[in-house]
Amino acid sequence: MVVSYCAKMPAAPARAARLARDLAAVPAHALDRAALDRATADLDPPLAAVDLAAFDHNAGDLVHRAAGRPIRVASKSVRCRFLLDRVLSRPGFSGLLCYSLREALWLCATGTCRDLVVGYPSVDRGALAELAADPVAREAITVMVDCAGHLDLIDEVAGPGHPDLRVCLDLDASWRPLARAVHIGARRSPLHTPEQAVAFAQAILARPGFRLAGLMAYEAQIAGVGDAPPGRPLRAAALRWIQRLSAAELRERRGEAVRRIRALAPLEFVNGGGTGSLETTAADPSVTEPPLLPASRAAVRAAGRAPPERSRPACRHLVLRRLRGLRARRSGSLTDAVPAARAEVLRYRGRR
Ligand SMILES: Cc1ncc(COP(=O)(O)O)c(C=O)c1O
Repeated sequence: MVVSYCAKMPAAPARAARLARDLAAVPAHALDRAALDRATADLDPPLAAVDLAAFDHNAGDLVHRAAGRPIRVASKSVRCRFLLDRVLSRPGFSGLLCYSLREALWLCATGTCRDLVVGYPSVDRGALAELAADPVAREAITVMVDCAGHLDLIDEVAGPGHPDLRVCLDLDASWRPLARAVHIGARRSPLHTPEQAVAFAQAILARPGFRLAGLMAYEAQIAGVGDAPPGRPLRAAALRWIQRLSAAELRERRGEAVRRIRALAPLEFVNGGGTGSLETTAADPSVTEPPLLPASRAAVRAAGRAPPERSRPACRHLVLRRLRGLRARRSGSLTDAVPAARAEVLRYRGRR
């Protein structure tokens, strides 16, 4: 058991040891949120109490399920440097998918990781200027782009003749059957067809100051939607059917986009999927890395997706208090994910 504070953890080893002793005395069936709240009542939130044995077990399980693909860890689902360090030190995990450029700059400066992809386009001018001015960060961080406006903003902030910045092209992975009359999934990017992706890749390659490092296509409708909602067998069957068709469509479309862009320039990575799509994404030959993290198994369980038997309750003892989720701030096609620290209770627990 470890007690962690989000920015500087693990905190207070003596206190953590006492907590571990206190919790060890609680019978397993009584170790619930109330017991954890009582045991940590004197500590200032946000904090997490994490069962490291479960965390490690699930990390190993994910590596097994990824079938040899390196796993890029989605930092937004952990937000805890101690846990990021821990999981990145394991074989099978490589690089971080960050939720904002500021976070990526911070994780780079703290030496947490030297391979950071920002999962969402950034319009944070200050952070972009810092990135452009820092040679170490420029080599370590890849920013997401999906339209010329993102490149224009970087040019404007970094100034004429700026050094190369690494960029990743965001291919929309939603499913649009019936001649695009139906839209299933997130509207992540204006780049949906291979033609659109190739045209934008050409635009990036033609522009000085940018290095096309990778492509990302995140299938939220598969990775982020539980396919076994309790007590709703018909809905479960419909979800699985939709997800199967969507995965097949995406495999073709993502594969074609990657093939055609690779013919223009080498791509260092092709990123896709998440915890809930690990098997299908890892089976797609065009993808080089799926991003996810051990704690996500709790979210998958909460969403109703049945985990394989060998998995333990993901973060049964992970409690995050007064930590608010991310909200994407949209303005036109430019998006930036911002953390908002507001007193609110969030809980991540996987219950059997
Ligand atoms: C771009 C991207 N990749 C991957 C993920 C998957 O993260 P996780 O499986 O940890 O929920 C997400 C989640 O929102 C995401 O936005």
